[in-house]
Amino acid sequence: MKVVILKDAAEVAQYGAQIFIDQINAKANSVLGLATGSTPVALYKELIEANKSGKVSFKDVSSFNLDEYLGLEGTHPQSYRYFMNEQLFDHVDIDKANTQVPPGNDANPIEACKKYEADIVAQGGIDVQLLGIGRNGHIGFNEPSSSLASRTRVKTLTKETIDDNARFFSEGEYQPELSITMGIGTILESKKVVLLATGENKAEAIKQTVEGAISASCPASALQFHQDVVVIVDEAAASQLDDPEFFKYIESQNQALLAKLK
Ligand code: PGA
Repeated sequence: MKVVILKDAAEVAQYGAQIFIDQINAKANSVLGLATGSTPVALYKELIEANKSGKVSFKDVSSFNLDEYLGLEGTHPQSYRYFMNEQLFDHVDIDKANTQVPPGNDANPIEACKKYEADIVAQGGIDVQLLGIGRNGHIGFNEPSSSLASRTRVKTLTKETIDDNARFFSEGEYQPELSITMGIGTILESKKVVLLATGENKAEAIKQTVEGAISASCPASALQFHQDVVVIVDEAAASQLDDPEFFKYIESQNQALLAKLK
């Protein structure tokens, strides 16, 4: 796994955004895998800036989001469709018809999950998948104990995730306990994976992801099986790694090699 340790959240967002910009500039009709949560917001701001200043165009890009709450319409302010419109899609030149978020309001969610998988395949698969990580090591809404081979499906949220996300809902407002999420097997089929984590409260999950045993107890640890993963973290999220200096050394060697190849 490539682990990039940077000073702070702003550097994490810039580094992550550059991977997406390079991807789209290399392949205009890239298929992006996108994520919600607080962590990707700064990266999306970078992408919006880059789009406005002509450094990248989303005109031919399509996207698939990781997950959605079951039971919320896309017009609900807490839905992930709404989030994506607000945080990215409304501010760049993407054709919204090419943006997919799992349908939280489908009459038959089980069939909708199968269709979501088929739609990803029909687009040629995901070129780069963006991930955040939960304190419990979840990716998407694949909570601990999720099968490491799981596909897009309906998933029950843990109490910890419901509590972590309660901050987005006003008091007394209905908060879903079920979701539709891409599976871990689905995520592992993306050609490249970019995982972002910032802050002390993610340090344990990052340690388990990078240095722990591969286990359904930490769903993100399954990424150790993927051949092209970049874990981008700030100092705080890296603070429980056994040997952060080693990862910094590797990254400096990588950068030196790339500079020589230019
Ligand atoms: P956060 O969520 O970015 O809001 O911390 C990450 C996640 O739960 O995947």
